[in-house]
Amino acid sequence: MKIALLGYGKMGKAIEEIAIQRGHQVVLKIDEFSIKDFTAENIQKADVAIEFTNPHSAYENIRKTIEWGVPVVSGSTGWTDKLEEMKSFCKEQNGAFIYASNFSVGVNIFFEINKKLATLMAPHTNYEVILDETHHTQKKDAPSGTAITLAEQILEQVARKKKWVNELSDDPADLEIISQRVDPAPGTHSVKYSSPIDDIEIIHTAHNRKGFATGAVLAAEYLVGKKGFFTMKDVLNL
Ligand SMILES: NC(=O)c1ccc[n+]([C@@H]2O[C@H](COP(=O)([O-])OP(=O)(O)OC[C@H]3O[C@@H](n4cnc5c(N)ncnc54)[C@H](O)[C@@H]3O)[C@@H](O)[C@H]2O)c1
Repeated sequence: MKIALLGYGKMGKAIEEIAIQRGHQVVLKIDEFSIKDFTAENIQKADVAIEFTNPHSAYENIRKTIEWGVPVVSGSTGWTDKLEEMKSFCKEQNGAFIYASNFSVGVNIFFEINKKLATLMAPHTNYEVILDETHHTQKKDAPSGTAITLAEQILEQVARKKKWVNELSDDPADLEIISQRVDPAPGTHSVKYSSPIDDIEIIHTAHNRKGFATGAVLAAEYLVGKKGFFTMKDVLNL
């Protein structure tokens, strides 16, 4: 498979390593210093593009790649207020697109556990639920995309929580997400239900970026030859 990397930072480099190990070829690398090379002609040399840039450039990068007819896998966070719009654009263009706030197999299993736990905890109003995410200090967005996915899953099940907030709150209808930035930390997420009697807590800790990178390459392998919008749930058949 020929891969174009949009974004060649910590994730782009980790993806390149895994892609080569899996027998793929990286035919284009775009970063903030080589944006002029991000053209239809260049990207069409690839079978698939993998986009890990930042909250400001992700939307345009994904949109152009779809427009230029190349399947795209994106993991950039902090832009997903426009995700629904992008899904519609992908459909209109008969494109192929996978988005995941977190590509690691472990986190996607953690998402399924989070949904199940939220369903079980929904009737137990004596438990307060809180989310915590810890990442490295270079992370540009807060809360993390993964924490937002976890929060949305909880909000779907736990009716006493109405919205997530990224601060401490006195309103019992708020689901608090506490963001901490410390080095080195590829990403830790926890969901804790606390009552005066006991606590139930689930935690996922990434030890390095390999899990995200492997998941992104698996997603690219899955996407080639398909049309439509998919998630890691499809890729991993969860
Ligand atoms: N979904 C996941 O599993 C997952 C995992 C880790 C990180 N992330 C997200 O991936 C993104 C990248 O993370 P990172 O740690 O590699 O960041 P990074 O800062 O190390 O790298 C970002 C790269 O994007 C490039 N870039 C900036 N503007 C660009 C533009 N307009 N066009 C093309 N490239 C551009 C930069 O030059 C750099 O190479 C972040 O949004 C992060 O939150 C997602």
